[in-house]
Amino acid sequence: MGTFLTRFDMDEFTALTRLGSHATFRGGMAKASSPKHLAVIPGDGIGKEVIPEAVKVLRAAALAGGRDLAITEFDWGADRFLRDGTTLPPDAIEMFRRDYDAILLGALGDPRVSSNRQGTDILIGLRFQLDLYANVRPCVLFDRRLTPLKGRGESDIDIWVVRENTEGLYASMGGFFKKGTADEVATQEDINTRKGVERIIRYAFDLARRRGRKRLCMSDKSNALAYGHDLWQRVFRQVRSEYTEIESSHMYIDNLLLQMVRDPSQFEVIVTCNLFGDIASDLGAGLIGGLGLAPSGNIHPGRVSLFEPVHGSAPDIAGQDLANPVGAVLAAAMMCEHIGWGTESRAIETAVRAAIRENKTTKDLGGSLTTRGAGDWLANLVASS
Ligand SMILES: NC(=O)c1ccc[n+]([C@@H]2O[C@H](COP(=O)([O-])OP(=O)(O)OC[C@H]3O[C@@H](n4cnc5c(N)ncnc54)[C@H](O)[C@@H]3O)[C@@H](O)[C@H]2O)c1
Repeated sequence: MGTFLTRFDMDEFTALTRLGSHATFRGGMAKASSPKHLAVIPGDGIGKEVIPEAVKVLRAAALAGGRDLAITEFDWGADRFLRDGTTLPPDAIEMFRRDYDAILLGALGDPRVSSNRQGTDILIGLRFQLDLYANVRPCVLFDRRLTPLKGRGESDIDIWVVRENTEGLYASMGGFFKKGTADEVATQEDINTRKGVERIIRYAFDLARRRGRKRLCMSDKSNALAYGHDLWQRVFRQVRSEYTEIESSHMYIDNLLLQMVRDPSQFEVIVTCNLFGDIASDLGAGLIGGLGLAPSGNIHPGRVSLFEPVHGSAPDIAGQDLANPVGAVLAAAMMCEHIGWGTESRAIETAVRAAIRENKTTKDLGGSLTTRGAGDWLANLVASS
């Protein structure tokens, strides 16, 4: 049996998580199982506003389900970087592998740090060094009034974008020649390994199988990228033959983006490379009501993984209590599923659907709630579930 989460509890917790220190909290009624250890990195801008709301909802779900949750907050981001130069400390990767079940991150990016050094070190550092090779971005339409597509409804948009997350053009291989001169050359290498391509395609097929999806589309640009994406073609042909119950197809990325707008109902699972997945999932977020709604998981099956909203730090609305916390809240729901808390994950998603149905949302979705108001509404509903 869980305990009630009072408004005081939530406000107190939110205040405490805003301290920006390495505070640890415990909540819920301990079960026979050991507590789950969660690392929270709010980061920059609206990350510092939406993550306390996601944690509030998560704690409500844990309390309602009688789960034990230990949360540690890390104040890594632009403020800390500008104060003492810290980005991702050298022992962080080992610590996360050893001591944590999952990481919840807000967003990184601050106009005061033009290099975005903290963003690259922390987010890309965690993705690469924890080998979080699958970036999973569900694009699910919760209410037809949220899509900009004419005549489309909930049954038309339910797409899981699976993006390769550790290679491609994001591998940071390249360089400058004669930088700053009129003869400057800049190169950016597109890294595609057989291991990397095979495991992400296999992950997408397994996800389709697990979720009872019937269709999977692999997207590349093998007509122009004749080496790297030829590898994608060959690996796809090999792996698809092991999943004959799933109808698999291929589309070039330019056509895929066009088709997502023309008829999104033809897609269930999309698997693609790092850059194309980044772009396709933002388009997907646009189809379901905007960036404020979209969650993502950076996953290595069976290992500590990282969950975050798809959006960035949104400096244009930061500090105004305007940001939509739903992307972060749904990222927490994805995290629950990853750590084996299926009931809590479903309770959070059900609450989000109810909030959208009843217009208990922030302004970007047509509601009138603040970030904190939207988080409180969701947490109260989850607490009573
Ligand atoms: N994963 C990450 O940490 C991540 C991802 C993307 C961008 N960034 C960084 O964030 C900064 C801003 O980038 P950007 O402006 O291109 O993208 P952004 O996602 O921060 O914002 C794009 C637009 O969407 C709106 N928006 C985003 N999230 C919202 C929310 N939850 N509720 C309501 N509106 C929301 C913003 O107000 C803005 O108008 C940059 O420094 C960028 O590098 C970080």
